[in-house]
Amino acid sequence: MEKDIIIKELSEKINNVKSIQELNDVKVEYTGKKGIITELQNGIKDAVDKKEYGMTLNEIKNAFNDAFNKKQEELNNLEINKKLESEKIDITLPATELPVGAPSILEKVIEDFEDVFMSMGYDVVDGPELEEDRFNFELLGLPKGHPARDAQDTFYVKGDELLMRSHTSPVQARTMLAKGGKEPVRIICPGKAYRRDDDDATHSHQFTQIEGLLVDKDISLANLKATFDVIAKKLFGEERETRFRPSFYPFTEPSVEMDISCFNCGGKGCPICKGTGWITVGGAGIVHHNVLDNCGYDSNKWTGFAFGFGAERLAMLKYGITDIRTFYTNDLRIKDTFERKDV
Ligand code: PHE
Repeated sequence: MEKDIIIKELSEKINNVKSIQELNDVKVEYTGKKGIITELQNGIKDAVDKKEYGMTLNEIKNAFNDAFNKKQEELNNLEINKKLESEKIDITLPATELPVGAPSILEKVIEDFEDVFMSMGYDVVDGPELEEDRFNFELLGLPKGHPARDAQDTFYVKGDELLMRSHTSPVQARTMLAKGGKEPVRIICPGKAYRRDDDDATHSHQFTQIEGLLVDKDISLANLKATFDVIAKKLFGEERETRFRPSFYPFTEPSVEMDISCFNCGGKGCPICKGTGWITVGGAGIVHHNVLDNCGYDSNKWTGFAFGFGAERLAMLKYGITDIRTFYTNDLRIKDTFERKDV
């Protein structure tokens, strides 16, 4: 038995394998049924000096096992390192960009509005969108057949008594009736209103108004003007000026349109203010004595003012949005098309 040659050969073979699979092949070659070591083992019965033969065989076996185990460990480590390498996470890579949400700018304008009015002691109240004719029209000085009803094309829901409110003014009547004519009223009510308008860039069958009502003693247009001034400056900048133009609403007398000096051109005239230098943002007036009386406030003792702002209009002006439908289509790409002046 050429012990040294066998050991040299098996060591070389084992050293040269490149994979566990190859290593196992070598194992079969030596210790399998017809393997070299197995055959040597079978040869013991013919050996002259069995002791000597057995010792040499053991040396070969040990040499094989040592080389095999060493190689196996080496290959296993290699395998583990390869796996670790392939599963390595490169923490220096830039992260996947996630779209970050922000409050709807319509909500933002409403919240800014609420903050200003709450700081002046107003409560924010709510009213139903499905409204009764008497709150939406009758108590506000618009009896059935009144021509001013035509200006508010209305969605009637059931007969002619239930409707989708065409403005937020019914909340004025509801609030006054709830207070029972005994205490001053100071509320704003942001909410949805509905009209049978055909949708276009400036009309939407659903839109948002911010109603306001103040009832107290000795209230005049001067109080309304001062209040309007505060909100105009807070929402559109300290340098804004305000003006009233005569108007008509059946529930206020006198009635006015509220304009702010154009925030874009500062009053010089530009496409946004259509060359006038002024932008109309809502309607208002001194609460009509009939409305006070209808709603339980003695008009000999109480006076008040009311206003209604178009919330989308304020948001459109503030953020440079040109189409009111933008607020009601859920296409997220739209948000990248207008300039966001704050978040
Ligand atoms: N409700 C009126 C409208 O929708 C606006 C308004 C509110 C006018 C309060 C005067 C007072 O056109």
